[in-house]
Amino acid sequence: MYLDEMPGVPLQDLWIDVLSAGLGKEKLGYPTQKPELLLERIIKTSSNPSDIVLDPFCGCGTAIAVAHKSGRRWIGIDVSPTACNLMEKRMQSLRASPIVIGMPMLESELRHLPPFEFQNWVVRRLFGRVSARKSSDMGIDGYTFEGHPIQVKQSEDIGRNVIDNFETAMRRAKKTIGVIVAFSFGKGAYEEIDRAKLHDGLSIKALTVSDIMKTGRELPDFNS
Ligand SMILES: C[S@@+](CC[C@H](N)C(=O)[O-])C[C@H]1O[C@@H](n2cnc3c(N)ncnc32)[C@H](O)[C@@H]1O
Repeated sequence: MYLDEMPGVPLQDLWIDVLSAGLGKEKLGYPTQKPELLLERIIKTSSNPSDIVLDPFCGCGTAIAVAHKSGRRWIGIDVSPTACNLMEKRMQSLRASPIVIGMPMLESELRHLPPFEFQNWVVRRLFGRVSARKSSDMGIDGYTFEGHPIQVKQSEDIGRNVIDNFETAMRRAKKTIGVIVAFSFGKGAYEEIDRAKLHDGLSIKALTVSDIMKTGRELPDFNS
């Protein structure tokens, strides 16, 4: 019996050949990312070129990336702004021109984001990177483009104690410039920032969410 002379068994409803291949170079770090080969099989067996592929739980955008490569039109939806940002980047890398709509734009929307999403929003807005530590970041949530630590608080009226803790985290990381972002800061917080500058040589920039919304795509001057 020769393989090329046998009709073989049509694909059944249990596919174990694709997943075992793993993600390899495709890996983007999104926890539930699927292999492109799997989505390619689904898309090619269930649609024709120029059809519209809709993935309403799109994650890092595997379905729309494969749809694009396979000559389909596409729409991706996800409740997570972090996922939408990843999707946008992924589609741009394929030279598609994604139009992103519905991202949180108002302070009231930002207040209701899950903490992890809010943190990602702030750090991205400062052109930074999120701290690698998953659960306990030891008081540092991310780093600015220049490597200054960022602490993010999704709350109002930040007090002296929060600044105190950030100072400790900065010292531990051997950093003298830091950025803390919150919806608002109390008098005690500003007093502590002044004290830390004068007596400890620590320069902490307190930015409100409305500050960083205003700065648009321009970086605030962390050194002033
Ligand atoms: C299993 S993941 C999708 C992974 C995707 N196939 C990939 O390759 O990245 C499911 C996604 O659904 C999103 N999600 C959960 N609830 C949602 C909702 N109500 N509306 C839209 N997206 C939602 C999650 O944020 C998550 O990104």
